[in-house]
Amino acid sequence: MNNNPDSSPIERRLWFKALSKDELKEGQVKTVYINYHTLCMTHFDAKYGALDNRCPHQGASLGDGTIKNGLLRCPHHGMEFCPIEGNHSEHAESVESYPVEMRSDGIYVSLPVIPPPSKISLRSDHQTHLRQNRPSS
Ligand code: FES
Repeated sequence: MNNNPDSSPIERRLWFKALSKDELKEGQVKTVYINYHTLCMTHFDAKYGALDNRCPHQGASLGDGTIKNGLLRCPHHGMEFCPIEGNHSEHAESVESYPVEMRSDGIYVSLPVIPPPSKISLRSDHQTHLRQNRPSS
């Protein structure tokens, strides 16, 4: 039993279907939205990759990139990453990658579960916004 009050809770993960079978052709890249995550799905060398869609350089959408010479190329400034692992041997920055499974009906990705924003916190944010932007008399 862990009695450390500073330890973080165990991350809950689930498998989500990201692509139908044959949806992403060899050598192609696609942006996919799943359960509050935005992923860059890749298909290269008969394998699939699920990467965070944000380029670590300045946040461009890697799902708008291309695979050339075996590397995923960011459409904004051209940084390159492994299309499956998200790393590169020539620079320290890497893209987070998620576990992928090829199943009979499609490609699945294991992702941390992000709970939807609660109505209470949205209401609270809205009330704060109204208070801060109240017209002065
Ligand atoms: S934003 Fe991707 S290389 Fe600059």
